[in-house]
This record gives sequence, C-alpha cells and structure tokens, in this order.
Amino acid sequence: MTDNWEHDSGEATAERAGHAVTKKNGATTGGRSIVIKGGTVVNRGGAARADVLVVDGLVSAVGEDLTGDEILDAAGCHVSSGFVDLHAHLREPGREEAETITTGTRAAALGGYTAVVAMPNTEPAQDCPEVVAFVKARAAEAGWCDVHPAGCITVGRLGKVLAAFETLASVGVRIFTDDGNGVQDPLIMRRALEYSRHLGITLAQHCEVARLTEGAVMHEGQCCSAMGVPGWPAIAEELMLHRDIELVRLTGAPMHFLHLSTAGSVDLVRRAKADGLPVTAEVAPHHLALTDELLRGFDPVFKVNPPLRTAADIAALRAGLLDGTIDAVATDHAPHAHHTKQMPLDSAPPGMLGLETALGVVLTAVSPDPVRVVETMSWNPARIAGIGAEHGRPVARGEPANLAVWDSSRVWTVDRASLASKSRNTPFHGMELRGRNVHTLLRGRVTVRDGIAQESGDARSIGSGGGR
Ligand code: DOR
Repeated sequence: MTDNWEHDSGEATAERAGHAVTKKNGATTGGRSIVIKGGTVVNRGGAARADVLVVDGLVSAVGEDLTGDEILDAAGCHVSSGFVDLHAHLREPGREEAETITTGTRAAALGGYTAVVAMPNTEPAQDCPEVVAFVKARAAEAGWCDVHPAGCITVGRLGKVLAAFETLASVGVRIFTDDGNGVQDPLIMRRALEYSRHLGITLAQHCEVARLTEGAVMHEGQCCSAMGVPGWPAIAEELMLHRDIELVRLTGAPMHFLHLSTAGSVDLVRRAKADGLPVTAEVAPHHLALTDELLRGFDPVFKVNPPLRTAADIAALRAGLLDGTIDAVATDHAPHAHHTKQMPLDSAPPGMLGLETALGVVLTAVSPDPVRVVETMSWNPARIAGIGAEHGRPVARGEPANLAVWDSSRVWTVDRASLASKSRNTPFHGMELRGRNVHTLLRGRVTVRDGIAQESGDARSIGSGGGR
C-alpha cells in the first residue's frame, strides 16, 4: 500500500470530506422536536419498527406516525443508543500532530459514538486531576461526544508507583489503565486491585509481558519467521491475562481486559466467567477482521499492539464475541502522524484508526444480530465504563437522547483521505464494508446528519465532497 498524499491538519481532512468544522455548544434541541422517522428501534427485547420523538435532550415518545418540527430520515436504518468506545487514543495533550480531542471526537461522532473513554497515554499522562480536567474541558468545548478520561494505574504509566486513585475518582474517573504498557509487577497489580475494590473503580489491563515482546514487530508465527522479523508471541498476552485472572480471584476486584487478540485469551476469559469471576473483555475491530499475512508487504499501517494474529485467532474472537465471552468491541483508535507510519516496520509506532470504521467492520466481518451489535458497542461498554446512567440506555420515553442511527446494509469503500481523523493510518483503506452510521444525536442535538458532522444541527459543509 503506497501513500501519495501529504499529512495535513484535521480541519483540511474534514474539508475534503465535507464535514463541518466549527464548534457547537448546547445540549438540547432548544424546544424544537426531532422525529427519527421510519427506522427499526433496537432495545434489549429486540428490534421493532417505530418512530422516535426527541424533545429537549430526551426521548419523549417511541411509537407509530410521530410528528415533530424536524425529521431525520431513518428508513432502512436501525435506531439505538449511541455507541460507547472503551478505548480511544485522542492524543491530546502531547501529540496533537496525530490527533486532537476535536478531530478525534468528531471522528467518533461520525462513527455513531456518543461517548468515548480516552486512553491515558498522553503527554503528560492522565495520572492527575489537572490533565483529566484539561481533557474534559477540551472535549466539552468541542462538543462532539462525551469524553471520559481513563486514569493511569501507575504514575506516568511507569509501573512503579500507584497513581492517586482516590483523588482521580473524586473528579469522576471510573476506569484506570496503563494502556500501551501492561502493569508488569504482580505486587503493584495486586495492590491496585485491592484499592480499586474499595473505591468502586475498574482497572483495565493491557496484557503484555514486556520481557517476552522485546523488539517484537508482529505476531510470532509462520509469517514472521518467513519475513525474518522478531515475533510477539501469544503467550505474552495470555500469561499476563492468566496472572490477572488469578489476582481477580484473590482480591474479588473487577477487572477489564483490553484488546484481546488470541484464541487462548478467549478460552481464559471463558473459564474465568464460568468460575463467576468479575471480569470483562473487549476485542478491537481489526482483530476480528485482519490477519498477520497483511504484514508480508512490510507496511507499518498493519502494525499494531497486540499484533494482528491468525485466522484461527480471528475465528475464536468472533465466536467469543457472539457467545458473550467478550463483552465489548472497542476501537483502540490509535492515530499516528503520517511521517511516523512511513518509518521502517521495526521502528514505526503500532496503532490503527478505528472510530469511523468500527461499525462497518463488525457488521461485515462478524455480522451479529442488531441486538448483539448494540450490546457490544453500547450497552456493555457503557456499563463497564461506569457511565450507564447517561449512555447505553434503552430507546424509551424519558431517557437521554444519546442515539445512533445506522444502516446495516449500506456498502461503502473506506477512503483514508475522507476520514475525519487527523491521521490516515487506517488498515481498511480501499476495503469495502457493509454498514455505516448515518445520524448521531448527543443529548438530543444532531452531531451527525446523513453522515456529515454538524454544527448546532445546521449542516455547514465547507468542502467539496458533500459528505457521504
Ligand atoms: O497499537 C497500539 N497503539 N496499542 C497500544 O496499546 C497503544 C496504541 C497507541 O497508543 O498508539
């Protein structure tokens, strides 16, 4: 895959894609009513045809032949609670050349998300209330979706000293991780779990025994042997997962496992759940769809941590997602500036974009029923993130109107140049996906209409593309 475009700002990307770029505030429809018309509403009981009336930020009715001041056409679409991403790298503060909170959350809204958990591997790291407050303020100013910063488990994500959980919890942090790094020291992890239990927070582990992945570039297997590059063995993930499941058994504290990528990991989580342990797990869309064979061309766009694995791993992950072993699809949206992904495979950073393609990849690669889509992309992640009072709610009268309207049969070809993210490192460029988000509402305000990001409900396309 060759790149023949220049790196540019997110605003320019949005311009090409026809997305509005100016900011918007206000969380309600200002008394105006919106009817989402002709869609199929997805709730726990199943999917049923109904219109949805939204007034002043809330769902005010679900039923037939509803009318309102404004109509959002949902014919042929599903209407559900907005998606919640447990795992997004928004890069601000520190690496704004790759993404900003504005560009990342705009991409999230376009993907159907109304809330994202922002990973703490920012610079400085999200290990203190000041950085958390900064991220929240920038997100509120941008207004595309709710952002819940994850706190660090250890100071600076260095694995040595526990972060101030209580202080961070007091400013609303509910989920803690050193993502990008696994917590290597079992004593630190044990203590972290013991404290977390008392505080009612959840720890999320990036499972990787670092000693086993030193210098690793891709999955350890036939493909990496043939290419002659160092491999990242499945055991490096599974060993830490096994250790932490046992620490959960010891402490009784809940734990969430990030971006699981191997068949062995699915088995470990399945057994832990059968034992009644309070564990949850997520899978990233790319691990459901792409294999390590894609690395044969040495293209760093396919480099990610944990790495793309084998067809057998994909089959196990898909099965785990469908049978409930894996609770959530989380994007691990990891933007990287163009010049960094142009480096040789061994020195390029790992990571892939995910927010705008997640729904399409899940529908194309796994094809779950709509209820399972919403369960794994909205209800379960909202609960795991501790934001279930606002997000992942039923589409029902009186509930917050945080909604996604998506077309599961729309076929589209991913074009990295038209994504809203500031970076271009999508592994799905040129691939055809079936399923795309169409409209998104955040507390009743239309953030995305007909696939175009909005300002205060008024489409203001500034580019030539005119959206989708
Ligand atoms: O591929 C990855 N990229 N995996 C991680 O755990 C971190 C992420 C990043 O921050 O780029």
